[in-house]
Amino acid sequence: MKSLVILISGRGSNMRSIVDAGLSADIRAVISNRPDAAGLAHARERGIATAVVDHMAFPDRAHFDRALAREIDRHAPDLVVLAGFMRILTPEFVDHYRGRMINIHPSLLPAFTGLHTHRRAIEAGCRLAGATVHFVTGELDGGPIIAQAAVPVLQDDTEDALAARVLAQEHILYPQVVRWFIDERLALRDGRVHLHGEATPSSAALRVPATDV
Ligand code: GAR
Repeated sequence: MKSLVILISGRGSNMRSIVDAGLSADIRAVISNRPDAAGLAHARERGIATAVVDHMAFPDRAHFDRALAREIDRHAPDLVVLAGFMRILTPEFVDHYRGRMINIHPSLLPAFTGLHTHRRAIEAGCRLAGATVHFVTGELDGGPIIAQAAVPVLQDDTEDALAARVLAQEHILYPQVVRWFIDERLALRDGRVHLHGEATPSSAALRVPATDV
């Protein structure tokens, strides 16, 4: 059985969607960089080990990332899942987990990396917004795209309304991608995403996986 470690910084609703998806995976730990992350309580209630590696306790990014990697590696996960983990990572950290660390970002990448994605999509007059799951590389919110979900931007949409519409899709998309990984259908090889077998985009929003090459 594949093992996971999930990293969060806050609410943890994506983490919850993965924990509650009933995947046949061993979720070894949920780790937060913030002691007050609300998601930690949910993980504990589910009997999952939790840990905090508080970035404020370290003099710089490199020291924090090394401590975080030590904590993750104690659990020897097959996959590291960034679920609202709001830290810029050092190249050493990213390299260490190449091909076995994924992230979800609330935009149709490569548009709108960084923060305030929904406000920026509305301001830009986008007709579609969405979320992207990707393997993590050195670029901020970048790296080979595994799957995306698109939703419409409605007339007079507010940032909150659009965020909620996208988040509902994140909660479907992310467990699906994790399932592909644990079923050994998903891999990163030579910098490209490989996804084997049937992966049909389905209703409601348009959810589109990478196609194999
Ligand atoms: C999610 O919308 C996720 O896509 C986003 O943070 C939110 C976390 O919510 N991630 C990023 O912006 C990464 N750059 P959650 O804690 O409820 O899962």
